[in-house]
Amino acid sequence: MDCTSPVGVAASREKSEGRYARSEGHTWTKELHRILCMQGGEDDISYAKNSEAPAAAITSSKPLLMESIGSMKLFVSEASIRIADLGCATGYNTLSTMELVVQNLRLRYEKECDRVPEFDAFFCDLPSNDFNSLFRSLQVDSSCSSTSKKPYYPAGVPGSFYDRLFPKEKLHLVVSLNALHWLSKIPAVVLDKRSKAWNKGRAWIDGGRKEVVEAYAKQSEEDLKMFLRCRREEMMEGGMLFIVMAGRPQFQEPENQLGDPDSRAKHPFTNSMDQAWEDLLNEGLIDEDTRDMFNIPAYMRSVEEVKAAFDRCGGFEIQQLEFQKIIEHSKEKQQEWTRDPDSYGRAKTNLVRATLKPIVEAHLGDIAEELFKRFQTRISKDIDKLHKTCFYGVIVVCAVRVPD
Ligand SMILES: C[S@@+](CC[C@H](N)C(=O)[O-])C[C@H]1O[C@@H](n2cnc3c(N)ncnc32)[C@H](O)[C@@H]1O
Repeated sequence: MDCTSPVGVAASREKSEGRYARSEGHTWTKELHRILCMQGGEDDISYAKNSEAPAAAITSSKPLLMESIGSMKLFVSEASIRIADLGCATGYNTLSTMELVVQNLRLRYEKECDRVPEFDAFFCDLPSNDFNSLFRSLQVDSSCSSTSKKPYYPAGVPGSFYDRLFPKEKLHLVVSLNALHWLSKIPAVVLDKRSKAWNKGRAWIDGGRKEVVEAYAKQSEEDLKMFLRCRREEMMEGGMLFIVMAGRPQFQEPENQLGDPDSRAKHPFTNSMDQAWEDLLNEGLIDEDTRDMFNIPAYMRSVEEVKAAFDRCGGFEIQQLEFQKIIEHSKEKQQEWTRDPDSYGRAKTNLVRATLKPIVEAHLGDIAEELFKRFQTRISKDIDKLHKTCFYGVIVVCAVRVPD
């Protein structure tokens, strides 16, 4: 390893401190489940403060969620109804969704049954998630006496949703929002210089070479299979699975992950991110290997890919399966940013920090911030894009656990 370069120095210090060993082949890529998380805390770069886009997807899918809860089987003999949010992260999105789900289910029990059960709410994410922040932001209802019922009993469950998280037939309702596009790993071939699927010079796959995209698609298929198999075990018959995941519409090729060219140009995973890596390389802050070994482990599935995974797994009956187009930002935000492009650059970069900082830090150590600065400079200069309304897509699916 070249310890004279800033990265080399940072990496060797990190290594001697025992935090990670970048020089031994970017080992974080093999330990993604230990590193991947959204940025914790509650400051300007936290996920909690930068989750408006996922919130828009949740709002858009809400009518389907309400409909699904309205038609869900009521488990009348159960003392408690067990609900899990898989990939909860931190902040408003998970807490407000849990509250909404519990409130609406409770109303149904009050109207339709003699007895109202209690509710267990399991907040699940990878162990690296900032569960402390999440639980700090839970509103404790002070009107509850020690003997009266709480709206729900919260618990954190650390682990990957590509593995079993619960005992058999434990759960009545599972939601997963804006999380399933994260893969369990970066396909090994994408990191292999000898392979045709080596993803040289790109941080992601949108517009990428066929072999790279195919490797991601294969990993995505394997992951969704594992996710569904695990849920099939953990859910009770009649239980409901409600998923919102970033996705593509029907018949859209996988190399076109984001749809229209404007969205593609503006999306933080694509052009500007690649340019920021290129800047670090041109300034001598990193070597080519370091640039090429960074890959974002995310894949937007198509409606067909999701349907095929459910069909292959069995044990679920799909009630709803829809692609929805989400407008990235409100008109007001767009107008505000047009007046002050720097604030646009800051906002976009904070969004990228909130999502990618933990893996960029694992990759670059002390100079991770340099990448975000280059990204911000690129984005702030790209004023033309500010005038364009961009979209991204989500797939919403509601399925009921049926006998095998
Ligand atoms: C974009 S956040 C979504 C958070 C929240 N559901 C929302 O809609 O705002 C995605 C979350 O999925 C989690 N995640 C990614 N891969 C996961 C896995 N294999 N198992 C569990 N959680 C995972 C990430 O750690 C992150 O917290």
